[in-house]
Amino acid sequence: MYLGIDLGTSAVKTVLVDSAQRVIASESRPLTTFSPRPGHVEQDPAQWIDATFATLDALKATHAGELAAVEGIGLSGQMHGATLLDASARPLRPCILWNDGRSAAECRVLERRWPALRATSGNKAMPGFTAPKLLWIATHEPEIFAATKLVLLPKAYLRLVLSGEAIEDVSDASGSLWLDAARRDWSDAALAATGLSRDHMPRLVEGCAPATTLRGELARRWGITGQPVIAGGAGDNPAGAVGIGAIRPGTAFVSLGTSGALLAPTSRIAANPDRAVHTFCHAIPDMWIQAGAILSAASCLARIARLFGATEAELLAPLGLRPQAPSAVSFLPYLAGERTPHDDPAVRGMLDGLSHGTDRGSIVQAVLEGVAFALADCRDALADAGIAMTEADAIGGGSRSRFWLSVLANVLNVPIHRFAGGETGAAFGAARLGRLAVTGEAIAAVCTRPQRIETFEPDAGLVGAYAERLPAWRELYRPRH
Ligand code: XUL
Repeated sequence: MYLGIDLGTSAVKTVLVDSAQRVIASESRPLTTFSPRPGHVEQDPAQWIDATFATLDALKATHAGELAAVEGIGLSGQMHGATLLDASARPLRPCILWNDGRSAAECRVLERRWPALRATSGNKAMPGFTAPKLLWIATHEPEIFAATKLVLLPKAYLRLVLSGEAIEDVSDASGSLWLDAARRDWSDAALAATGLSRDHMPRLVEGCAPATTLRGELARRWGITGQPVIAGGAGDNPAGAVGIGAIRPGTAFVSLGTSGALLAPTSRIAANPDRAVHTFCHAIPDMWIQAGAILSAASCLARIARLFGATEAELLAPLGLRPQAPSAVSFLPYLAGERTPHDDPAVRGMLDGLSHGTDRGSIVQAVLEGVAFALADCRDALADAGIAMTEADAIGGGSRSRFWLSVLANVLNVPIHRFAGGETGAAFGAARLGRLAVTGEAIAAVCTRPQRIETFEPDAGLVGAYAERLPAWRELYRPRH
């Protein structure tokens, strides 16, 4: 029996998976995000722990027998967040998240101080990443910077609480900018450019390797009889890849979570930092992931639902199964700024083309289309790096909407496939990593492709209609920097 724990942005989700790779049970607890100032996005690490413990307490209440037999645990997590710990391993301040835009100036400083940044990390310095956040702290909260003894990504903090050890996997570490992506090791030069050293960093392991074990007192709390191994785990995007068996080149996929991404596993680095393509180590050895990342995807639909005072299901139901034509309204999904391709933390969203005839449905459709157009920008940025895509799988909560996947198939002009349970992707992938760390089985034998339950084929007429709209949609973007 294996546990996969995904420390997401909107919730912690924990799945219990048996040796036949069936999800036996799943529990999730919501997380709160707060914005103390415009463009600042933070979370309280204590809430991650409470939420994770609550999911495990709940599993104990309903599935005590299965939980008792857990041998391996995999962690997945929201990437890039800066959790700063003092000498007693206590958080010094709230975590600064992946969608926080405060450190744009520090990105420029970092690239000047360390000109090899793009060549070494495979990434452009962007505010979402961890390193520029530390420069911001050094300038604006110098006493906190001075007290910082350890910098952990969110799931490494969770692992510290679960095991007592500070360990990170190389896929999540890639989102820090401190990693040498080719060597899969910390870069001393990168750390020095932010006034840090390896002493401030956790030990690194591969995602599918054993990292540590669950503390005995916690194993007892949840009635686990052995001492489960905790795997390296992965950032949520690489963990999602493992969950759907995207472990080889040619297995590109779209993630429609709070954020969105178009991700392509590669057997060599194919970076394109100038267009804000992300380079991540994969959660399995000798593989990487090139990704176009957009900061707001399903969160755009959630925001519109709150504005209309309706549930997302109520907004989606009247749209039917597929679009008849593009909406007359256009939407820019840059609610938290944007990474790929603009790297513009200051830009914000937009609704364009409202008229007396605009109804709720045309706005909702425009929101889904705006996210799809943003993913088309990601596709083009990946294509510039030589990564072509002929089809894509879809994961994340947004992949439940058939209408949205149909829009995506037509905007990207490739078939989009959907899995049963695709929305449990990252947690399920984490459970697979937990299993690999225990059994040492062949990766390909465990990371199989789940059964596709539906394929959304592009429709020639709609492909043409969306291709005509894309240039006008792009024109709406006005850089703010
Ligand atoms: C990826 C990114 C997000 C977070 C939160 O670069 O910032 O996908 O991992 O899910």
